[in-house]
Amino acid sequence: MTNRDYRIGVIPGDGTGPEVVVEGLKVLKTVTKIFGIDFQFKTFDIGGETYKKDGTLLADEVVEQLQSMDAIFLGAIGHPDVKPGILEREILLKLRFALDLYINLRPVVLLPGVATPLREKGPEDIDFVVVRENSEGMYAGGGGFFKKGTPDEVALQESVNTRKGVERCVRYAYEYCRKRNRKKRLTLCAKTNVLVYESDLWYRVFEELHEAYPDVTINYQHVDALCMWMIKNPEEFDVIVTNNLFGDIITDIGAIIQGGMGIAAGGNINPEGNAMFEPIGGSAPKYTGLGKINPLAAIAAVQMMLEYLEEDEPAQAVLAAMKKVVKEDMKSLSAGRMGYSTSEVGDLVAEAVSK
Ligand code: IPM
Ligand code: MN
Repeated sequence: MTNRDYRIGVIPGDGTGPEVVVEGLKVLKTVTKIFGIDFQFKTFDIGGETYKKDGTLLADEVVEQLQSMDAIFLGAIGHPDVKPGILEREILLKLRFALDLYINLRPVVLLPGVATPLREKGPEDIDFVVVRENSEGMYAGGGGFFKKGTPDEVALQESVNTRKGVERCVRYAYEYCRKRNRKKRLTLCAKTNVLVYESDLWYRVFEELHEAYPDVTINYQHVDALCMWMIKNPEEFDVIVTNNLFGDIITDIGAIIQGGMGIAAGGNINPEGNAMFEPIGGSAPKYTGLGKINPLAAIAAVQMMLEYLEEDEPAQAVLAAMKKVVKEDMKSLSAGRMGYSTSEVGDLVAEAVSK
């Protein structure tokens, strides 16, 4: 058995972040009682409000403290009064980069009883995982302006792809695909017909590493076609590996086909370091403080965190509880239409975990 005493950094953040984090923690505390795990929580006050108050974004000592945690649980970052990009880049992306959380793991799973916009598809069809590179690509921020604000202005935005960065991501995807042990099918999503440098590197690494994973079947798709197939034939997918920007885009399609932002969660992981788990829906300012937001995505983030900590039994218990609640209790996964308030949904899941 692993060391069952964990230090969890908690970043409630902005908008509905704090409300859903409370529910995630409620479920985690129930798990603590039942399975005898010890969690110590340390809350970090970062986000739009602190930025507005004193200009603080993400101080180096906060990064250091977060680094020492066993895992991090994040609510949401983003504030309607702050110009788009500042909080995202200086807090969320900075955390991903500073802690070198180079994998963004995003499961796309339709639970029984959840409505999907794909009319002919059910839970047996929608069950795959996107491994998104999370530390470079278009997100590295390369580029610049030339003659900004003049009629001759030039804007360059560069994608950074290192052999090391691509290799560690693709290797993780192969390992994950093997460990998941389902269809054992790994799809590379890129754009080799246009991005002749970037995608070429990804393709070569993908093929080279395949030699070590003969038990995994490989498949390649251009990103545009893959967007179409995710909707037309989602059952074709098992694990998809892709770069940072493509991963960002395709996982929004993933989120909507699994029932929406009310349930979609992801993990920012450094397999050799630590990890940060989050609902991927953002701060949803218009629902802030109303008790209408769906906390299931945050609870799903907690579930992923338990898996990451190799607490498999509690992770299974949380998943089973979520399945029960979406199937038997909730009317919808959409904010304001759940048939319950945010905290009531948290109570239902916590109660189901205890049974
Ligand atoms: C996500 C988000 C972020 C991203 C934004 C908020 C910077 O969309 O986690 O998918 O683009 O990675
Ligand atoms: Mn996104």
